[in-house]
Amino acid sequence: MTDEPLTPIPPAIRRRLICGNWKMNHTHFEAVQMIHHFSASITEEDLAAVEVSIHPPFTDLRSVQTVLESEKISVVLGAQHCYFEPKGAFTGEISPNMLAKLHVGYVIVGHSERRLILGQSDEVVAKTLRAVLAAGMSPILCVGESKDVRDSGGAQSHVMAQLRSALQGLSPALVQRCVVAYEPIWAIGTGVNASTMDAQEMCQVIREEIETIVGPGVGSGVRILYGGSVTPDNARSLCRQKDVDGLLVGGASLDGDSFAKVVKAAGR
Ligand code: PGA
Repeated sequence: MTDEPLTPIPPAIRRRLICGNWKMNHTHFEAVQMIHHFSASITEEDLAAVEVSIHPPFTDLRSVQTVLESEKISVVLGAQHCYFEPKGAFTGEISPNMLAKLHVGYVIVGHSERRLILGQSDEVVAKTLRAVLAAGMSPILCVGESKDVRDSGGAQSHVMAQLRSALQGLSPALVQRCVVAYEPIWAIGTGVNASTMDAQEMCQVIREEIETIVGPGVGSGVRILYGGSVTPDNARSLCRQKDVDGLLVGGASLDGDSFAKVVKAAGR
């Protein structure tokens, strides 16, 4: 494992990051159309105001990479998942290095859909996060509580336990290359986003907890995103919170026009 950042470079100031998570949507044909639609709906200035990543399914990655690079669109290629082993007999899995070779910059790790539907444990999340870092990419670590946990008052302790299990033992230099996304499960795909106050509060607590886990001064350099029913209408107010450094966008990132509106709103 290396402590040296390869790509992307960790931000000196926390540059806002807007990530489009397509989940299991768009064939590679549709993916190319979406990227064209998106780039026609946005200006270079909009893309300079924030950092943008797009996370298509594996089968779309090469096509999206080719369009982004050949048309010089300032969007970082992202992935939604990978396996933690470098190679071998793991049918159906994709290694971190396979993604890095496609110039993937960010990999979503521990999304609640993978944790809940596909049984990804905290232990696997921690291993995957380390494997992504070792391959020179930045993990976007997803944490978040269910509605039951929130209603019972356990949201913060649940999220802190997820955070601790993923980050404990990593050096400050490696943690500064990580992005954390607070995604309350009850807000994902429901049309009910967390209030700006709740999003701010949890992102602030996450930042403070990073200082406790890794060391003083580290949390202030880590970008913390909010995700869950982000739309062009709520993107701006969520992004204006002191500790919300960007957004992880699902449904609203599928359409070029709507994702462009989210990016523009977040950059204002
Ligand atoms: P959503 O998904 O924006 O559709 O709620 C967010 C996510 O799961 O990353």
